[in-house]
Amino acid sequence: MFAERRHKLLDAMGPDAVAILLGQTLVSRSNDTDYPFRQDSDFWYLTGFDHPGAIAVLRTDADPTYTLYVEPRDPAAETWTGYRPGIEGAVADYAADEAYERSKFLGDLPHLIEKARHVHHVLGRDSRVDECITQTIEELRRRSRQGVSPPEAIIDPRGIVHEMRLIKEPAEIDIMRRAAAISAEAHKAAARLAHPGAYEYELQAVIEYTFRRRGTRGAAYSTIVGGGSNGTILHYVTNQAKLSDRELVLIDAGCELEGYASDVTRTYPIGGRFAGPGRAIYEVVFEAQQAALDQCNPGSTIAKIHDAAVRRIVEGLLELKLLSGDVDTLIAEEKHRPFYMHGTSHWLGLDVHDVGSYRTDGDPRPLEPGMCLTVEPGIYIAESNDAADLRYRGIGVRIEDDVVITPDGHENLTEAIPRAPDELEALVSDR
Ligand code: GLY
Ligand code: MN
Ligand code: MN
Repeated sequence: MFAERRHKLLDAMGPDAVAILLGQTLVSRSNDTDYPFRQDSDFWYLTGFDHPGAIAVLRTDADPTYTLYVEPRDPAAETWTGYRPGIEGAVADYAADEAYERSKFLGDLPHLIEKARHVHHVLGRDSRVDECITQTIEELRRRSRQGVSPPEAIIDPRGIVHEMRLIKEPAEIDIMRRAAAISAEAHKAAARLAHPGAYEYELQAVIEYTFRRRGTRGAAYSTIVGGGSNGTILHYVTNQAKLSDRELVLIDAGCELEGYASDVTRTYPIGGRFAGPGRAIYEVVFEAQQAALDQCNPGSTIAKIHDAAVRRIVEGLLELKLLSGDVDTLIAEEKHRPFYMHGTSHWLGLDVHDVGSYRTDGDPRPLEPGMCLTVEPGIYIAESNDAADLRYRGIGVRIEDDVVITPDGHENLTEAIPRAPDELEALVSDR
C-alpha cells in the first residue's frame, strides 16, 4: 500500500526529480515532557513509518529511489522512550532501499539534490533544511559556467500527495468504517450516561475511554461536550459544566484509528425528551441534514450539499419566526449566518479537516467515488443573539455524519448512531 503510493508520487514527479519529505518530530508539552508522538499525515501516507525525526528521500534522477534517514538504535535511549526501528529496521520493515542516521542528513543534502532538475520540498517546516537547499542551489548556480545546472524549481509536493489522499482506497475506507463504528459505540455510551446533574467531562470521559478501550489512539480532535448554551460555542472544549434537565447537550467527538479520523456530532435532550424550542430547532437541523445527505452523490458538489442545508435552515428559521422575508432573498443576503456560520462539509481522512482542493478551475469540485466528507449542518442561537426570541436563546444543535461517495450515491459511515428525535430519546432513556 505505502510502496504503491510512493510509486504513484514518483511517477507524478516526472524524471530528474528529488523529493525531500520531513517526518514529524517530538513536540514539547512542558519542560522536558513531550506530547504523544503523532506522525505527519503525508509522511505516514507515503511511508507508514511511525517514529519521530525521520526524513524520506524519493528520487527519479538516480538509484536508490527510496532512502530513509532515521534515529539509530540506541539501547540507552530506548530504555526511556521505547523501540526504534533504526537503520536496519527502516530497510527490513519499511522497505527503504537504503537508510542512514538522521544526523547525516544535512551533510548529505547537497549531494542528494545536486543532479535534480526539480526538488519537491515543503518550505517553512525546518529552517536548516530550507537554508541548506537554497544555499546548495546558489552554490550550483555559481558553478554554472563549469557546466553545472542547478535545480530549476522547488516544488511543493503537497499538490500531488493531497490529490492522492483525497480519493480513498478501499483499505482506507475500511479503516474509516471501523473508526466510525468505534465512534458510534462511544456516542451511544455517552447518551446512556447523560442525565441531569452529570458533568460534561463525565460524558467526555466515557467517550474517550471507549476510544482507547477499542484500541484507537484516542480522540482525533478535542472532544466537545457542550450542555445548554455551551452548545452554541463552536469549539467549546472546556467541558466543565453540569448538565441540566430541559437543556440539550451537543457532543462532537470522533476517534483516530490507524491515523484516520472520524468526526461525529449528536445533540440530544439531557432529560430524555425533546421539548418546545429545542425540538423545533432540532427538527429543522435534522431535515437540513437529510436534504444535504440527499445531495451526496457522484457529480454533486460540496457547494450543492451546503446550499441544500442552508435552504432548509432558512425555511425553518422562517417557520419559527427567527427570520422574516423571502427565502431566496434571505439566502442571497446570507441572513442565516448569525444562526449557521460554518460550512456543511469538509473532507475527512488522515486529518479531520482533510486535504485536497475544494475547487477545480475555480468551480466547486464534482464529487467522485472514494471521497470522504462530513455532513454537519447546525443552528446556534447564542445567549447574546438579541435578534432572537428569548425562548430560543442558548440553543445549539449540530448533527454531523461521515460519508463516503460511492458509484451510486453514498455510504453513511456513522449511520449506526441514532439521529431521528424519537430514536435519540429512546437511546438517552435506555440507562
Ligand atoms: N470536529 C471538527 C469539525 O466538526 O469540523
Ligand atoms: Mn466536522
Ligand atoms: Mn465535528
